[in-house]
Amino acid sequence: MKLLITGGSGFIGSALVRHAIGLGHSVINVDNLTYAGNPDNLPGISDNPLYSFEKADIRDGEKLREILETHVPDSVIHLAAETHVDRSIQFSSEFITTNVNGTYALLEAALHYWEQRGNDGKFRFLHVSTDEVYGQLDHEGSFTEDSPYRPSSPYSASKAASDHLVNAWHMTYGLPVLTTNCSNTYGQYQFPEKLIPKVIINGIEKKSIPVYGNGQNIREWLHVNDLVDALMRILSDGEIGQIYNIGSGSEIANLALVKMICEILDSKFPDLSPHSEHIQFVNDRAGHDFRYSLDSSKIRNGLGWKPSVSLDEGLCETVNWYLENDNWWKPLMN
Ligand SMILES: NC(=O)c1ccc[n+]([C@@H]2O[C@H](COP(=O)([O-])OP(=O)(O)OC[C@H]3O[C@@H](n4cnc5c(N)ncnc54)[C@H](O)[C@@H]3O)[C@@H](O)[C@H]2O)c1
Repeated sequence: MKLLITGGSGFIGSALVRHAIGLGHSVINVDNLTYAGNPDNLPGISDNPLYSFEKADIRDGEKLREILETHVPDSVIHLAAETHVDRSIQFSSEFITTNVNGTYALLEAALHYWEQRGNDGKFRFLHVSTDEVYGQLDHEGSFTEDSPYRPSSPYSASKAASDHLVNAWHMTYGLPVLTTNCSNTYGQYQFPEKLIPKVIINGIEKKSIPVYGNGQNIREWLHVNDLVDALMRILSDGEIGQIYNIGSGSEIANLALVKMICEILDSKFPDLSPHSEHIQFVNDRAGHDFRYSLDSSKIRNGLGWKPSVSLDEGLCETVNWYLENDNWWKPLMN
């Protein structure tokens, strides 16, 4: 297949680009390289004949049309977005323009392209969204694909809006779309502002490790390799118009997660004092959702997907990667 991937220079997008090329697919990466987009996330890929890069803003509909007409992809996988909840609280405007207007521009360009090609039956528009659109849970239950949307943050509200647009372009114009809502994802090449890399890097640098509130908020952690495997499976076997939740089932409170990472670091540096001594509780995030949890039985039963990386394994591997790749993250620290 020839895949047009937006946001392919970001954390999940770059993992998807590497995975798709490894499977022998061609990839056109459309990314405007914001602070979160980094060519260094794709080492050894830029010269690969299966890869091409288009520096473009997804809010630029005309440019998107031109890229689609030039490259003639079989499908579009849409990941480009502003993604950091804390930034969305301070600077919501980019979240609305990129996540809402950008998704709208991409849908319009994809619709035009699909119609020009005679409503090609093989074309798919796979939209990558988040479990945060469903809002928060207390200790019980999990979100299904039918759960109502109750986003709490400017980030999750902008993603919810994008999901509604994608669904509307399917219902109204017949665009063959698929939507995924996935849980918190982690692994190599994740930008240092996100929780897991931040804890690892601050631990390595013996800086304070900030934990919001009392650290009891619960998240479900999915390894990025499992996520990209799920995305490719949904693209090839998912049912058009459907939503798929993608979660690992590995739920843990933030404080317990931070302590796990500290213990892994302790095992690497047995002569140092325990890294958990650097944990510092800070004022809670405004509108901080208490718990996310996904019921992923639809993708597990319908498409035979299941996660293959346990949280223990995934965290050890991720800590090792950040320890061995300070040349990647140090330049990003400013
Ligand atoms: N990371 C997670 O835990 C997680 C969980 C669920 C869903 N998601 C979703 O997955 C997708 C990818 O997330 P990520 O963590 O890899 O994000 P990221 O912030 O690491 O990367 C985002 C990428 O999008 C690009 N981008 C941003 N604005 C753009 C624009 N206007 N035009 C073109 N490119 C633009 C950036 O340059 C960057 O390469 C997002 O849609 C996000 O909402 C992420």
